[in-house]
Amino acid sequence: MKILIGICCGLLFHLAVSAQPLIPVPARIIPADKGCYPFGSTEKILLSDTTLQNEARELQRILAQRTGCRAEISLAAGQTRRNIFLQTDTTLKHPEGYRLVITPRSIRITGKDAAGIFYGIQTLNQLLLERDGKTASVPCLQIEDAPRYGYRALMLDPARHFIPAKEVKRFIDLMASYKFNTLQLHLTDDQGWRMEIKKYPQLTEIGAFRDKHSGPQGPHNGFYTQEELKDLIRYAVERHVEIIPELDIPGHTAALLLACPELGCAHRDSIPVQLGKTTDRTLCAAQEKVYEVYADILQEVCALFPARRIHLGGDEAVIDKNWGHCPDCRKLMQAKGFKEVREIMGYFFGRIHKLVRQNQKELMLWCELDNIRMPASEFLFPYPKDCTLFTWRMGLTPKTIELTRQAGIQLIASPGEHCYLDYPQYKGDLPEFNNWGMPVLTLQQSYDWDPGYGLPTEEQKHIIGIAGLLWAEAMQDLNRVTYMAFPRAMALAEAGWSLPENRNWENFKNNLIPHLADLTRRGVSFRVPFEVFNAETRKK
Ligand code: ACM
Ligand code: ZN
Repeated sequence: MKILIGICCGLLFHLAVSAQPLIPVPARIIPADKGCYPFGSTEKILLSDTTLQNEARELQRILAQRTGCRAEISLAAGQTRRNIFLQTDTTLKHPEGYRLVITPRSIRITGKDAAGIFYGIQTLNQLLLERDGKTASVPCLQIEDAPRYGYRALMLDPARHFIPAKEVKRFIDLMASYKFNTLQLHLTDDQGWRMEIKKYPQLTEIGAFRDKHSGPQGPHNGFYTQEELKDLIRYAVERHVEIIPELDIPGHTAALLLACPELGCAHRDSIPVQLGKTTDRTLCAAQEKVYEVYADILQEVCALFPARRIHLGGDEAVIDKNWGHCPDCRKLMQAKGFKEVREIMGYFFGRIHKLVRQNQKELMLWCELDNIRMPASEFLFPYPKDCTLFTWRMGLTPKTIELTRQAGIQLIASPGEHCYLDYPQYKGDLPEFNNWGMPVLTLQQSYDWDPGYGLPTEEQKHIIGIAGLLWAEAMQDLNRVTYMAFPRAMALAEAGWSLPENRNWENFKNNLIPHLADLTRRGVSFRVPFEVFNAETRKK
């Protein structure tokens, strides 16, 4: 047995010196001279304090799955010979940062905070990727790691096709494995209103049921009750994922307007509002009732979601056709002395922003460069300083980075050409319909991306993170969602976490293989990136 462990350790030492298949790649790996930590059939997880129970349970789960060992959790007081330690150390420099030290006698995961420890555990999990249920060893080494960005998000779109809460949980598990810390839930759009609002039950009674003939839970029908959302938030918190709700306004509101037609503009040249079909209607900016209803909605949403930020859309509103023709909006323009319809957008979000602030939240919006103008020209850029913007339109990110920098606005990078995971991954691949003439976004395009665009530090320090987006017009269920997300989300995980100097496409490709095998074992649908591994293609 000893000889076997010796051979095994020797092999693992070799592995330690070569790259470990870690995604996202850590800041620093220091291989040790020799040896490995062999897991026994029982292990002890010792905690520096009781607040780490959640992380200890995550480690217990992983060890059971990967090594078959039973691990007991206790406080670090009575240390025994062989141990796995979890401990916080506030002197570590970075939030979410961790140190993982593996010696022949112990595994020690030290985190700046519980999140750091959680991520150290995810790294240990990846060192064990190919060992499901088999007693295993991990090579002696030291890893020092911390994220490049504090905001690392994926967005799900249950508005287009409903995703039941238990499926969202499966997705959160996947996110946590790759050190994403934010899930944006796009809860309302033209195709559906997916969150229970107690004061306005008609929003879900009418707005959550696109297909009268199919059942109550997806793909077209369904909504999250507030209790379900609370449970989902708790589940996410345990995995160090924060959920940010998005309610898209003033466009993308057909579902709400079907339930509350009086909140739309009085214009006549549009087709009637129909769930999933109408996309050209907006809230009327001139009606007091709109602000009253949203004050109530925001109160409920902000009370439920503990995140400090809320996303309110602001994208693709068809303003000329609505506000430009609506008698009430035209009167508003006159009264305020606005010359252009887009000045109404500044007025509209000025009022909505006040409501957001009253609820102690910060506003997030999709950045539109042409659809908004603040009525007061004191803004250098037509958004207030204390909002956070997303750059998303193809080709506009360098310009948006510069404009937001000048305006002192925080930016999240989700440019179409790298982050739109609803785009096909290969010519002729899914989705089977291409409603917007969506371009191909290959795995390598998602990978070959520096969210800071190589800019000097001063010019990119307002970029606080990245987001991969899964718009779901063509994703009927979670299997399709994960097919579109993976493996490109792994590339984005690395863009969000890893330092540019540590990133390398060839290494990423090699690291990918055990991860794809692991997704298979976990029953996760993903796209095989055959073009990346195809020998003929690689020769070119
Ligand atoms: C968007 O893709 N409409 C933000
Ligand atoms: Zn109007």
